[in-house]
Amino acid sequence: MTQAAHRSAIAKQADARVRVEPLGETLIVRPGEPLMRAAARQGLRWPTICKGSGLCGACYVRVVEADEALEPPSKRESATLKLVPPHMRGPEVRLACQLVPRGTMSVERVGVVRRED
Ligand code: FES
Repeated sequence: MTQAAHRSAIAKQADARVRVEPLGETLIVRPGEPLMRAAARQGLRWPTICKGSGLCGACYVRVVEADEALEPPSKRESATLKLVPPHMRGPEVRLACQLVPRGTMSVERVGVVRRED
């Protein structure tokens, strides 16, 4: 697929809706947009060290529910997920900076807060 065709395919997709707990807010995520970027755009501060480069693992999130299948983790995401604290790992754990939501989802991540600025 060419880049133009890829952009066109993404443009035809609908926004995703992601409920973030325990904060209790619902984010609107644009097609192709990673969860953490959408959170920042909507005024949330997500735990990070590498600022979304997919290298630190600090942004991990647990996907509680998803009404559409998600893309599996990339090689980079899979490698970085090994940095997540062992008690938090699992097949439902992803990196918010790499995860591109679809449809309606619910996720859990302690430490996500609304920015005060
Ligand atoms: S923010 Fe560092 S891996 Fe996601």
